[in-house]
Amino acid sequence: MKQHEAITESIERQTRTHDRARAALLPILHDIQAEYGHVSEDAVRQIASALNLTRAEVHGVVSFYHDFRASPQPLPVLKLCRAEACKARGVEALVEGAERAAAGKVAIETVYCLGLCSVGPNAMVGKEVHARLDADKLNALIGAAA
Ligand code: FES
Repeated sequence: MKQHEAITESIERQTRTHDRARAALLPILHDIQAEYGHVSEDAVRQIASALNLTRAEVHGVVSFYHDFRASPQPLPVLKLCRAEACKARGVEALVEGAERAAAGKVAIETVYCLGLCSVGPNAMVGKEVHARLDADKLNALIGAAA
């Protein structure tokens, strides 16, 4: 399916399930981000037009939330949780080694909670969450993602 058609389908689906068009904006952006890895300027234009918003309003949401990107990330992404529970379970001691292992091969992004706080430190690659990480497991995960 072409991107324009996929965005149209998402807009139609999300505006059917949300009372106000504006409420559909975040779910639509999540759809586009999940499908294409970023929300392009063309997508922003199309969404703004369909929801009767300005491009600046849509762009503001894209740039405000960490989950959305305006351009594709060329590297595989590993999301490393650095919220309180994972901090308490030792994630900070893993960061420097992970960044060294990932350099130029994997993009490490900080996130704040992956919903498995009791079994941290946790990271996510694609849609899969990896728990109880130590330096060896995290490096292996980075190596597999590269
Ligand atoms: S704090 Fe890391 S998963 Fe919740």
